[in-house]
Amino acid sequence: MGDLARELERRRTAAAAAWDVHDAVVLVEAGAEIPVPGRGDITYPFRSHSEYLYLTDRERPGGVLAFDPDEGWVDFVAPVTATELLWSGLEGDREGVPDGTRPVGDLEGWLRGRPARRLGAAADADTALRDALIRVRRPKDDLEVGRMRRAVAATRAGFAELAGAIRAGRTERELQILLEAAFLRAGGDHLAFPTIIAAGDHSAVLHFSPTARELRDGDLLLVDAGAECGGYAADVTRTYPVGSGFDAAQRVVWDTVRLAGEAAIAACRPGVMWHDVHRAAALVVAEGLRELGVLRGTPETLLDSGAVTLFLPHGVGHMVGLGIRDAGTASGETRGPEGGLPRLRVDIALEPRHAWTVEPGIYLVPAILDGARGRRDVAWDRVDGLAGFGGVRIEQDVLITADGCEVLTADIPLN
Ligand code: GLY
Ligand code: MN
Ligand code: MN
Repeated sequence: MGDLARELERRRTAAAAAWDVHDAVVLVEAGAEIPVPGRGDITYPFRSHSEYLYLTDRERPGGVLAFDPDEGWVDFVAPVTATELLWSGLEGDREGVPDGTRPVGDLEGWLRGRPARRLGAAADADTALRDALIRVRRPKDDLEVGRMRRAVAATRAGFAELAGAIRAGRTERELQILLEAAFLRAGGDHLAFPTIIAAGDHSAVLHFSPTARELRDGDLLLVDAGAECGGYAADVTRTYPVGSGFDAAQRVVWDTVRLAGEAAIAACRPGVMWHDVHRAAALVVAEGLRELGVLRGTPETLLDSGAVTLFLPHGVGHMVGLGIRDAGTASGETRGPEGGLPRLRVDIALEPRHAWTVEPGIYLVPAILDGARGRRDVAWDRVDGLAGFGGVRIEQDVLITADGCEVLTADIPLN
C-alpha cells in the first residue's frame, strides 16, 4: 500500500471513530459541476468538496463516498465516458470506474431505503458529523504538510519574480501576470485564490483585484497571493515600496506590521487561544499607531475600546491547508466582534499540526474612519494628513509544533 492509500485509510478510520454513527449510513458528496449562467456547456472550474477530497483525494464531480457502520466504506464514482475522454482527455483514465470503486448509479440500490446522513456538497449537510470531521481534519498529516510545502515553494518562485519587477510604470496587471505564470511554472496546479495586487490607495482595500493602474514612485504595493498544489494552498502577503524606499510614515507602519507579525508568531504554541494571538499582534499595532501620532492612549485601552480595530479591521489569520480556508468554523467557534476585537472566523486553542495564516495589517480605510469621526482617542489631523496612504499587510503561514510553530513561508523575503 502506498503512502496515499495508507493515509486515506487512516483519515477514514479517524472520521468513522469521530462520527460514532450506528443507526445510519454517511454519504460524503463530491459535488457537481456548476454551469456558468447563459454560457451553454461552460462550467466554473470544478473542485471537489474539501470533505470529499480529504477522504478520497479525488477531484471529480458526481462521486459519493459512503460509510456503513457494518459494511465499512464504499466509494461510488461517476464513470468516465467516451465523450469525456474525447473532449477532456482525463490523462491516465479509461472508460468506467477505477478499480476498487463502484459506479455511482449503484448507490440508490445500495441504500435500500436506509436512513442516510449527508456531508460534503450535500445541501442538507449534517452539522454534528461536519463538526466532528472538521476536528479530525485540523491537524495536518505528513502528506498534507508535504503538499503545503510544495505550494509554498511555487509561491516563493512567484514572489521572487514579482519582487524583481517592481518599478514605476509597471501596472498591477503586469505584475499579476508575472507572479501567476511563475506559480504555475514552479509546480502550482492552480491559484489558491484570486490574486490581490494593490498599489497606492488601492492597498486599503483588503481583497483588491489588480487593474491597469500604473505604479508610481512613493506608492505602497500590497501583494497577497498563493499557489495551490494537490488541493493544498499557500497564502502569502508582502508589502513593498515602489521607488527608492519607504517614506517616514510608511516605514513606521511597515515596521509595526512586521513586529506585530513577529509577536503573533511568538504567541503561536499549543494551548493558546486564537484571540490571544490576535491580541498579541494588536497590542503592537497600538504602539505603532501611537508612534505614528494617530492614536492617543495606552495600548490595552486602545485595544479594548476598538480604536485599534479601526486600523486592523480583520482577524489576524485563519486556518489554511486544504484550500485557503481549511477546516473552518465548527458550531459555536466564531467570536465577536466583542471586547474591541473584530469578528474572528474561528477562535479555538492551537494544537500541534494546525496550520494558520498570521497576517496583521494596518490600513487607513476612509469608509471606516468616516464613521468614527467623533472619537477622541484618534488624532484626526494626523489621519487627515495621511489621506490616500493605503495599507500594509504581511502574511505568513505557520505550522504549530509541540512547543511553538514553524514559519512555512519564512524563505519568502519580506520586501
Ligand atoms: N488572501 C486572502 C486572505 O489572506 O485571507
Ligand atoms: Mn492572503
Ligand atoms: Mn489569509
